[in-house]
Amino acid sequence: MMSSPDPEEPAFCRLSDARKATKPCSIVIFGASGDLTYRKLVPALYHLFIDGQTPPDFRIIGFARRPKSSESWRNELREALEKFSRTKPVDTEAWNRFAARILYSQGDFSRAEDYAQLRRLLEGLDDESLRNNRLFYLATAPGEFGLIVEQLHKAGLLHHRGNGNDAPPGCERIVVEKPFGHDLASARSLNIELSRYAGEQQVFRIDHYLGKETVQNIMMFRFSNAIFERLWNRDTIDHVQITVSEPMGVGGRGAYYEQSGALRDMVQNHLLQVFALVAMEPPVSLEAEAIRDEKVKLLRSIRPMDSLDVARQVVRGQYTAGEVAGRQIPAYRNEERVARDSNVETFVALKLLVDNWRWSGVPFYLRTGKALPFSASEVRVQFRPTPYVLFAQQCGQRLDANSLTIRLQPDQGIGLRFNGKTPGTSVEVRPVLMDFSYDAHFGAYTPEAYERLLLEALAGDATLFIRRDEVETAWQFIDNIRRAWTARPLTDREFYPAGAWGPAAAADLMESTNRGWRVPGRKI
Ligand code: BG6
Repeated sequence: MMSSPDPEEPAFCRLSDARKATKPCSIVIFGASGDLTYRKLVPALYHLFIDGQTPPDFRIIGFARRPKSSESWRNELREALEKFSRTKPVDTEAWNRFAARILYSQGDFSRAEDYAQLRRLLEGLDDESLRNNRLFYLATAPGEFGLIVEQLHKAGLLHHRGNGNDAPPGCERIVVEKPFGHDLASARSLNIELSRYAGEQQVFRIDHYLGKETVQNIMMFRFSNAIFERLWNRDTIDHVQITVSEPMGVGGRGAYYEQSGALRDMVQNHLLQVFALVAMEPPVSLEAEAIRDEKVKLLRSIRPMDSLDVARQVVRGQYTAGEVAGRQIPAYRNEERVARDSNVETFVALKLLVDNWRWSGVPFYLRTGKALPFSASEVRVQFRPTPYVLFAQQCGQRLDANSLTIRLQPDQGIGLRFNGKTPGTSVEVRPVLMDFSYDAHFGAYTPEAYERLLLEALAGDATLFIRRDEVETAWQFIDNIRRAWTARPLTDREFYPAGAWGPAAAADLMESTNRGWRVPGRKI
C-alpha cells in the first residue's frame, strides 16, 4: 500500500516484506455456511489468491452442520462472491484455480466422528505441509469456541504448543471472531477454555478494525513523523474525539443486538482499539508483543468509573423512528426480534480520562451509534488554542484552535486545520485545511480488513490481534459502565430520532465543558 505512483518520490521504507512469508496450510472454517464466510472470509481469501499473497499451496475446508457437497459449497461461494466481492466481475479462470482448493466437510460441532472425518480428509492431502499446518477459523458463536477446540484436540488436530510441550511438527492456529465474551467473567472463562488446548501464541482474536488500512496507519503516522509525536500530549492537546457513525439501523440483527448493544458491540472492541492506537506510548519495537504491551498499559491507565462517574460521563441512547438519507428507519423497539420495551442502547457517547503522564487531564470523547445521519468514522485531535494575545484579541473566540483529523472511513485521509490570513488589506484570519487523501495519493486501493487479517494469521503475526490481557482489560472498563446501567430503564431524554446525532445529552456531555462535537467526515 505504501508504494507511490510517482517515480520521483523519495524512497519509502517497507517494514513487513520479511514477515509475510507463509507456509502451505489448510484453512478450516467452522461456521462455513454462516454470513461471515460468504460475505467476508471467502472473498478475502479469493483476493489474497488473485494478488498472489496466499501461501504457496493451501486448502480451504468448510466445516458446518448443513449437508452439502464440496461442489455445492463451491457454487454457493461463487454466487456470494459475485455479490460481495470488492472487485467485479469475478475472473472465472482465477476462480476455477481458487475453487479447486475448496472442500467441504459436513459436521456437528459436538460429534467426535465428524472431527475424525475432518482428520481423515486432512490426512489424505498430498502435501505434508498441508497436512501439518492448520489454521482453524472459528466463525461461530462464542459459546461454541470451547467445544470446538476441545473436539479438535481430542481428534489429534490441535496440540498445545509452548511451555515445553511435545507437539508434532507443523503449526496449528485458532482464529476467533468477535464477540469475545459478553463481560469480563465470560471472556475470562473463554480464555481459560482456549488455553487448555492452545498456547496464547496460537490464538488470534479478531477485531476487524485493526485490519483497516487507516487504523493501522494511526501508529505509522504517529511514530514515523517527529512533528506530530512531539505535540502528542497534554501540553498541546485539549481533547480527542473518536466517532464511529453508522447510518443503518440494526436491520436483521435484532436478536444479536438485544444481547449486545452499542457498548459491547462497538466500544469494547473497535473504539477502544482505535483509542489505544491514538494514545499508547511508543513501543520498543514493532514486534507484536511490544505493541500489545503498550496497548494494555494504556487500557490499564483508563480511570475506572463508579456509578456516579457513569451518570456524569456516559450517555446512552436508543433510536426512535426517523429518516436517514431519505430512508425511513423504524424505531429500534419495532425492529425484528427486538423486545417492544427493550432498554438496549444503540448509541453511546462517553468521556474517558487517562491517568498517565502524557494524558493527565485530557479528555477522550468516544461516540458511536446506529441510525446516525451518515457513515463516517474519524479521530479528531483538538489542540489547545493560542494564548489570548495578538490575533486572539481581535478575533476572540472566533479564532480557531488547530486540529488534526484522521478520517478512518469512508473518505479516508488526514486533514490538518490551521489558520491563515485572508488575502486583502484587513487583518482577517480564517481556518484552512491541509489535506491528504488516500484515494488521491495511492489510488482507490482498499483491501478489505479481512484480507490483511487472514494474511497475518497465516503468517503467524499476532500484531493485529487482541491479546488475552488486552481483551480482559477492555471488558473490565466496560463492565463498570454496564453495572451502573443495570435495572435503570431508558428515560425520555435517552431516545433520539433516527437521523440525529444521538440524544441531546450527548451534546451536553461536551457543551458542559465549552467544547462541541465535530460533525465527522467534513474536511473543514
Ligand atoms: C461489527 C459490529 O463488529 O462492526 C456491527 O458488530 C458494525 O454492528 C460493524 O456495524 C462496523 O464495521 P465497519 O467495518 O462497517 O465499520
